[in-house]
Amino acid sequence: MFEALKEQPADKILALMQSFKEDPREDKLDLGVGVYKDAHGNTPIMRAVKTAEKRLWEEQETKAYTGLAGDPLFAERMRELVLGDTVEAGTVSAVATPGGTGAVRQGFDMVRMANPDAVIHVSDPTWPNHLSILKHMGMPVAPYRYFDSESGGIDFAGMIADIVQAKPGDVVLLHGCCHNPTGANLSLVEWKHVVEKINEVGAIPMIDLAYQGFGDGLEADAAATRLVAESCPETIIAASCSKNFGIYRERTGILMAVAQDPAKKKVVQGTLAYLNRQNFSFPPDHGARLVLTVLGDAELRADWEAELEDMRTGMLELRRVLADELRQRSNSDRFEFLAEHRGMFSRLGVSPEMVEKLRADHGVYMVGDSRINVAGLNRDTVPKLAQAIVDAGI
Ligand code: LMR
Repeated sequence: MFEALKEQPADKILALMQSFKEDPREDKLDLGVGVYKDAHGNTPIMRAVKTAEKRLWEEQETKAYTGLAGDPLFAERMRELVLGDTVEAGTVSAVATPGGTGAVRQGFDMVRMANPDAVIHVSDPTWPNHLSILKHMGMPVAPYRYFDSESGGIDFAGMIADIVQAKPGDVVLLHGCCHNPTGANLSLVEWKHVVEKINEVGAIPMIDLAYQGFGDGLEADAAATRLVAESCPETIIAASCSKNFGIYRERTGILMAVAQDPAKKKVVQGTLAYLNRQNFSFPPDHGARLVLTVLGDAELRADWEAELEDMRTGMLELRRVLADELRQRSNSDRFEFLAEHRGMFSRLGVSPEMVEKLRADHGVYMVGDSRINVAGLNRDTVPKLAQAIVDAGI
């Protein structure tokens, strides 16, 4: 039987991680996978998470199963973190999932159950794994214009023109903040317009929120998701705790489905729990418990927010310094968008050949579409990157 299996294409981001590991050059620069790094290139366990972990070790008395949806307290705290008080608790169904990717997958699965013909409209470009999962699931995909590589901003007219092609019951997948891979984000005014159009055509918004707290702050980064959830009859939200709590390997995420008609909750909640049971049964609990502990304790929460804020402002500063270095070295404003982008990523907008040249000649690893992870830089490596970009003749 196994001889019938075909070799699968390697995930580009993960393959890049491996090539970086194998490169013997000491001054190589990893701007690939979306993992936060401090100025020393480490991904530390956040202080509040470490304390929560100690507490858990001392106080936890059982590892027996939770529920199919995970601990309801985790869902409650995450609903507050993501949605604040914009929608009634009674309108939100939620299940814990293995990471944000698990939430995305369960969200697509729910859509397929509800409407097997639904087309998923995705930004061009989007996180490559969105496309890979959708392909694996055999779900139809339609790209909508998003990134304008000339300006490094958004082709908003193109985006709207493509979104209005959606049919009732289709899904429009949106990045709640810190767009991956481009770093270019809609303003709130633009979000309002997008929401209007989605409602006009009767599509359902699905938000991937993987970087809350990495862009303009915890509240500001949730603003678009809140706007969508309170303005649309139904909203699907896949949120990740991997980045903002730094608990990548614990696989902690949540899928929320908001239905303004609370009568739908019983069936929606039951469907989400059913999907968990079919796909992996109980969701992982350790990371979820760390998150609910941090969010539920005023002192730990304040410390977590402070550390997250330091990470965010550090990345903003690196963006500013990189844009300045590039202006000075290239004598042009072409890369000013780097300072305006938000989150971990920016798309430089250079050719795959240039990306390869930067890797081969300078040991600079970025994803093939020229996405860089700003957190992979520090004050010493920014000038090196700027010079490498200029030398490559970009
Ligand atoms: C990324 O985009 O690099 C991250 O979301 C990690 C991943 O799983 O691809």
